[in-house]
Amino acid sequence: MSDMLVNLYAERETDNRIALAANGVTCKRALALDKQSIIGFVKQHFSTDNEGWADECSVALGRQPGSCFVAVSEQQPIGFACYDATAKGMVGPLGVAASYRQQGVATVLLNLCFEAMKADGYAYAVIGWVSSEDFYRKCCGAIAIPGSAPGVYSRMLNNL
Ligand SMILES: CC(C)(COP(=O)(O)OP(=O)(O)OC[C@H]1O[C@@H](n2cnc3c(N)ncnc32)[C@H](O)[C@@H]1OP(=O)(O)O)[C@@H](O)C(=O)NCCC(=O)NCCS
Repeated sequence: MSDMLVNLYAERETDNRIALAANGVTCKRALALDKQSIIGFVKQHFSTDNEGWADECSVALGRQPGSCFVAVSEQQPIGFACYDATAKGMVGPLGVAASYRQQGVATVLLNLCFEAMKADGYAYAVIGWVSSEDFYRKCCGAIAIPGSAPGVYSRMLNNL
C-alpha cells in the first residue's frame, strides 16, 4: 500500500459540513480532556484491523494544539481524523463509524486537517499507507507516491 500526496493549495469543493451540522453532526478540533472518550471510540470501532490507531490518536491528542479532529453526534464521537501523528506532514488515521458513513463525514474531517496543516505552514500533506486509493482520489484529489511503500512504517516492530 502506497502513501498519497495532497496539494493543500488546491481549490476544494464545498463539503457537507453545513448539512451535517443541520443533522446534528459537528466536526471540530478535539480537546485533550476528551482523550479517553475518543480513544475508547477508536478502539471499539477500529482496533481489530488497525491495532496502532489508538496510539497514533493518543499522540495527536497530546499535542498543543491537538492535531486530532472529531465528528460528534449526540455528544459521542462518530468519526475522527489525525495529522502529524506518525510523522510530520502525514494525515491519518481516519475512521467513521459504520452507521454514519456515506454522508461526507470523512471528507469534512479530512478538509479540517488540511485547513489546519495549511495554517501550520505545510504546502502538501501525505496520506500514509492508503488502503483505498479510490476514496482519497475522489474526496481530495490525492495522487499515489511512487515507491512510497512501506515508507515510514518500515520502522514498525512487526515490520509490514
Ligand atoms: C473510508 C471511510 C473513512 C470513509 O468515510 P465516509 O464518511 O463514508 O466518507 P465520505 O462520506 O466522506 O465519502 C466521500 C466519497 O468517497 C466515497 N467513498 C467512501 N468510502 C469509499 C471507499 N472505501 N472506496 C472508494 N470510495 C469511497 C463515497 O461514496 C463518497 O463519494 P460520493 O461523494 O461520490 O458519494 C470509512 O469508510 C471508514 O472509516 N472505513 C474504515 C477505516 C478506513 O478505511 N479508513 C481509511 C484508512 S486509509
